[in-house]
Amino acid sequence: MSETGRPRRTAVDAEDYRRVSHELWEAMAPGWERWRAQLADALTPVREWLIRGLAPRSGETVLELGAGTGETGFAAAALVGDDGGLISTDFSPEMVAVARRRGIELGLSNIDYRVIDAERIELDTGSVDGVLCQSTYMLVSDPAAALAEARRVLRPGGRLALSVWGAPERNPWVSIGATILVERGHIPPPEPGTPGVFSLASEDRTEALLDGAGFGSVRTAHVPVRFVFRDLAAYERWVLDVSGPLAAVVRGLPDDEREVLRARLTEAFAPFSADEGYALPGVALCAVAS
Ligand SMILES: C[S@@+](CC[C@H](N)C(=O)[O-])C[C@H]1O[C@@H](n2cnc3c(N)ncnc32)[C@H](O)[C@@H]1O
Repeated sequence: MSETGRPRRTAVDAEDYRRVSHELWEAMAPGWERWRAQLADALTPVREWLIRGLAPRSGETVLELGAGTGETGFAAAALVGDDGGLISTDFSPEMVAVARRRGIELGLSNIDYRVIDAERIELDTGSVDGVLCQSTYMLVSDPAAALAEARRVLRPGGRLALSVWGAPERNPWVSIGATILVERGHIPPPEPGTPGVFSLASEDRTEALLDGAGFGSVRTAHVPVRFVFRDLAAYERWVLDVSGPLAAVVRGLPDDEREVLRARLTEAFAPFSADEGYALPGVALCAVAS
């Protein structure tokens, strides 16, 4: 046990987590490519907040971590121009390949695509002007180490813009399904201090981690988003294709448990019925730090 009374994660647990998470995201890459446009559309308010916060200038070098399909970094690439550049990275080579295909499709020429782990950034100290990281820090094994790495590679005066997911009750697009899976005994309840979709939802915790990583100035905001699905079948396909750890669990459920999940979701999603089908709200905790 740690001094907080929580079970202490060992180095072996952390390495196991990294290996499993890496395999999982490699497997998710085709799904993220299929849903790229819908994901980019739903996350537009977050992407726009991060880009405004980072404020990339012509000639600067911006590093994106956990880039997924690459969209957020591509918005920065347009602003730094050909005198600057974007280093678009992810720890999954399959995801980097997805981002590269998208960057080529967009005709972007100032991008260096690399496989990089946010916890061990293989770049020189003080070598970039900005770091972008959307929806990834809550998934890394050791966010304190990852944020310290971002600080290390930033030049003095450089900025970090990040987003993580806010509180579960403000993110029914994911928390409803996760709660049902816990109640049915398919996943354990989230353990404080371990990686997961809501592990950095507390503004105080995220600010303390940024402070601990050496960022002296931090500004935060809660940014609302909306995920729209034509019907429950579309939501189920989306969960199976993109939802990281939850996708693996749902894929492994027997047919009768899938039916129970559908019935429970139909009930719980009723308040979110909309003209388009279901409109499920969410809130991202965004921060810009320097
Ligand atoms: C939820 S997705 C977000 C993707 C993209 N940033 C977006 O918002 O659309 C998380 C991404 O982080 C990547 N990832 C997870 N752990 C990582 C790590 N330790 N280092 C770098 N990338 C990581 C995954 O491969 C995945 O592409």
